[in-house]
Amino acid sequence: MSRAHKYDVIVVGAGGAGLMAARYAAQHPGVSVAVISKLYPTRSHTGAAQGGVGAALGNISEDHADWHAFDTIKGGDYLTDQDVAEAFADEVIEAVYELEHMGLPFSRTPEGKIAQRKFGGHTREFGKSAVERACYAADRTGHMILQTLYQQSIKDNVTFFNEFHVLDLIMVDGECRGVVAYDLATGELHSFQAKATIIATGGNGRMFKVTSNAHALTGDLMSIAYRRGIPIEDPEFYQFHPTGLYKIGVLLTEGARGEGGILRNSEGERFMERYAPTIKDLAPRDMVSRAMYLEISEGRGVGPDKDYILLDLTHIDAEIIEERLPDITEFARIYLGVDPIKEPVPVQPTAHYAMGGIPTNIDTEVISDGQNTIIPGLYAAGEVGCVSLHGANRLGTNSLGDLIVFGRRAGIKAAKYAAGAAYGNLPTDHQEESRRLIDKALNGLAKEKVSHLRKELQDSMMENASVFRTAETLSKQVEKLKELKKRYQDIGVEDKGSQFNTELLEAIELGFLLDNAEQLVHAALDRQESRGAHSREDYKERDDENWLKHSLVYKDGDGVRIDYKLVTLGKFEPKPRVY
Ligand code: FUM
Repeated sequence: MSRAHKYDVIVVGAGGAGLMAARYAAQHPGVSVAVISKLYPTRSHTGAAQGGVGAALGNISEDHADWHAFDTIKGGDYLTDQDVAEAFADEVIEAVYELEHMGLPFSRTPEGKIAQRKFGGHTREFGKSAVERACYAADRTGHMILQTLYQQSIKDNVTFFNEFHVLDLIMVDGECRGVVAYDLATGELHSFQAKATIIATGGNGRMFKVTSNAHALTGDLMSIAYRRGIPIEDPEFYQFHPTGLYKIGVLLTEGARGEGGILRNSEGERFMERYAPTIKDLAPRDMVSRAMYLEISEGRGVGPDKDYILLDLTHIDAEIIEERLPDITEFARIYLGVDPIKEPVPVQPTAHYAMGGIPTNIDTEVISDGQNTIIPGLYAAGEVGCVSLHGANRLGTNSLGDLIVFGRRAGIKAAKYAAGAAYGNLPTDHQEESRRLIDKALNGLAKEKVSHLRKELQDSMMENASVFRTAETLSKQVEKLKELKKRYQDIGVEDKGSQFNTELLEAIELGFLLDNAEQLVHAALDRQESRGAHSREDYKERDDENWLKHSLVYKDGDGVRIDYKLVTLGKFEPKPRVY
């Protein structure tokens, strides 16, 4: 295989956003498209999204895009850009029907419409009560989206480079001209020259000890962009999903609470009634996760160590559980030996989703500063990007919506740009940084073990920078990360081979994760307020006067520099968040 490739549009990542982008780009006449993915496409993490995609179809009860936009903005604790939320809530309706027409096997109502269920933070009439907005395919919605889009991409003649690990962006004179990728099968570096590059590589949850994220979710492109001078927006807002399987972190969908599941403490109390009297267990995730931590810290946790909460589905008809929640039922049975039909399931908050990421405008064009300066030829969509839809806290189901709405926008925009652009030359040394990364790991001193450093990173992030934070814990973590970054210079690997050297790639991924953690911790220390998923025990209140702005974290030598970008407000005035 040649090691130099040329495509009009390159998409990095083959999850929902990447595949949607690739499909739309490929439909532009005369535009060639390739997807580069470090995984086989149908193993992408979109497949782990369970409960549904939110869209105001109104199939069960009245609903409106405007209500959805409001919930998204309020759920995001008013850090959401309101123009983005409004466009999203409109477009996601059409996007869901489009998936249906592509053949996605949605669950159905008795009349044959797409079935919908309740989900956290989704309400009717601007907060009056919970509304059925999540369109679902049992608890395999993401899996079905992934399979459907992959089939369609094959039909659209998209070329795939699977198990190619992108190690660098080729940036020349402030524009992106493609990527360098490592072929896992051969150990060779390949250059991909492109007029437009779309980043769609997902999140970075593996920086935490307990996470719902797959092993591949190491924030590679958030680190590569950062190393190339692009800021990361709002990394301090990291979401913990309330119901991860105890100690393992595997997701148990919020759809379980949408179907009537209840969280209980050691006294059997439905404690969410105290924290969110209107929508109770269906409050947004940041509130529920905090409530769970508080119950545990006040001695009402369950189990010998009083460190978990129970998700109780036992009052729900067994047939409904088996039909609408088959996967999570199996997960509880297999991993914990607990049958949710007969007994409550031990759960704990699990690191789930990065609200922040590579900053973009509403058209997914990557921007480099608070003035929205566009980086030509570079786009980002899905969890890796930050179009400012989710603000300080994402509502459940809005990630799948984000993938299809902004994946589509990215594909259309990038293809249009590529159709009118010429290929820029690649500098002769464009593979140098990628070679340096490989050489450092292959020929390093091996005084430090990658697995040990990664464990220390995950344990310390969980301890110091997860659901609750203070200046003290965050400062401690800043120091810990400095230490880990220094020790990372002395890593090495035992496998020196060139075929499927996963040890080498894990070593490189650890470097990416350390950058991601650095972005998060510095921005969290800087933001002296509590908003959404960022909860400072030393600054308990939201402070709209000083902090109604997005953080932009830049790499600055061995440290960081933080700048800001104002939130785009609109018709929904910031108010205290009561549910
Ligand atoms: O709970 C869930 O099914 C997860 C959905 C999401 O993160 O949007």
